[in-house]
Amino acid sequence: MNQATLVLVKPDGLKKSLTGNILTRLSETKLEIVATKMARVSRELAADHYRHLKGKPFFDDVVKYLQGEFHDRRKVMAMVYWGNDAIKKVRDIAGSTNPEEADPVSIRGSYGRITTHGVFENVIHASSDEKDAEREIKLWFKPEDIIVDLYPTKEAVIKDLKTKSWA
Ligand code: PPS
Repeated sequence: MNQATLVLVKPDGLKKSLTGNILTRLSETKLEIVATKMARVSRELAADHYRHLKGKPFFDDVVKYLQGEFHDRRKVMAMVYWGNDAIKKVRDIAGSTNPEEADPVSIRGSYGRITTHGVFENVIHASSDEKDAEREIKLWFKPEDIIVDLYPTKEAVIKDLKTKSWA
């Protein structure tokens, strides 16, 4: 069954110049990339992304981590992978969330670490199931950013919308 899944190369992955390695590893899945962008991450976006973790002792740290506050890289690379069994295929190559428990040849096992504060710096995020994938993809991307029709859309005419165009 075709599925979509969100992958984020987190600020530590960017700082360690791992984007190429990560894309190469993920290409083993033979999935298609149907959306990609570099994104600055506001506190609101990071907190919304991790909203299921509100109340956990590491919540503030994971929000700051995704914003790039610990790595002086205030951006992430966001991608949507699409194809048969995409969620499991990506998670298998990503490895377990806890980098100490991840298969050593997985992305997180190879490049992740746990900080002295107990925060997992695990290089990439990968959606955990279809419900989370849909929520996360809608949070990070607009319908027109994605080259396949993943979810139902509606049309809206937005009057007096101020937007930038090339000068
Ligand atoms: S849970 O507990 O199942 O609801 O959480 P999960 O969906 O696995 O996501 C947890 C995210 O928080 C990051 N993180 C940690 N989790 C657990 N313990 C510690 N100490 C911790 N530090 C950070 C973890 O990496 C998950 O984020 P992603 O982006 O999915 O890797």
